[in-house]
Amino acid sequence: MKFFIDTADISEIQALAETGLVDGVTTNPSLIAKSGRDILEVIKEICDLVPGPVSAEVTATDFPTMMKEADKLAALADNVTIKVPLTIDGLKACRAITSNGREVNVTLCFSSAQALLAAKAGATYISPFVGRLDDIGEVGMDLIADIVQMYDMYPELDTQVLVASIRSIDHVEMAGLIGAHVSTLPPKIVWDMYEHALTEKGLNAFLEDWKKTGQTIL
Ligand code: G3P
Repeated sequence: MKFFIDTADISEIQALAETGLVDGVTTNPSLIAKSGRDILEVIKEICDLVPGPVSAEVTATDFPTMMKEADKLAALADNVTIKVPLTIDGLKACRAITSNGREVNVTLCFSSAQALLAAKAGATYISPFVGRLDDIGEVGMDLIADIVQMYDMYPELDTQVLVASIRSIDHVEMAGLIGAHVSTLPPKIVWDMYEHALTEKGLNAFLEDWKKTGQTIL
């Protein structure tokens, strides 16, 4: 499973890029606003930091303006993936942009029906928001399972399921068990994934025993 990082915070991306585990980055207008940065500058900086796909979202809601914004974002770097909302105009733009050879991430997906439309529109990635479905009492990961199962029925559909709105390590584990292609992870979730009490306890025990030998490797 690919790990994308869900943030526009340059320092967070830099720290995580050093782990060698970052396959891409996703942003959205809220994350850009949170960064306090100019979108064109920060997306360019992220693209220079991470060679993988970097999602930059259009903010227009009409097809013609979406296409103009997509051109401007795509010009920033070859690894910019254009992000569009799952709307009629968004999927029209998806079809046009992917037919020009540029990757598209269709976002704000909340149903299998929407995911089917996005795949038929040629989406490179579909981003179902699992956390926000959990927020309204549904089981977001059930949607991921449904979409993966549905896409697997049609080999001609090559849209990758990109699990978004991840709120817990459980979400990541379930995404892996279901076989989602990508998870886009808030930085804190990544750091938390390393942690387990038994790992820390076991390492401390190893080092205590090693200290007793009086040996050094160097
Ligand atoms: O990638 C989408 C993500 O940023 C939304 O997350 O927690 O605001 O639902 P959240």
